[in-house]
Amino acid sequence: MKRIGCGKGRVLAYLLKSHAPCRLCGIEINEISGRIAQEWTQKYDRADVMIGDAFRLDYNDYTVLFLGRPFLPKTFQQFLESWKRL
Ligand SMILES: C[S@@+](CC[C@H](N)C(=O)[O-])C[C@H]1O[C@@H](n2cnc3c(N)ncnc32)[C@H](O)[C@@H]1O
Repeated sequence: MKRIGCGKGRVLAYLLKSHAPCRLCGIEINEISGRIAQEWTQKYDRADVMIGDAFRLDYNDYTVLFLGRPFLPKTFQQFLESWKRL
């Protein structure tokens, strides 16, 4: 599962605690929040966090994408449009 706009990793923590049966990857554009998420997820083999722009990723390797309101409506629409071009 790819968690888009993971912030400090609140949803990742919930999914780990819930034993979600999948690999968890977060992406966060804010370096400070992303570093916090990277630090605490280090101890989990099945979770990792990258710092970067969700618009610039190739999502073909992922089966589930989770967006917990990372974008304003207009940006969200642009994000969906960018998938259609893949
Ligand atoms: C409303 S917060 C949600 C944070 C987290 N999901 C939580 O529940 O604590 C949205 C997050 O999306 C991130 N974000 C916004 N645009 C992004 C982008 N293009 N790529 C990656 N992350 C982005 C923001 O920096 C912010 O941390």
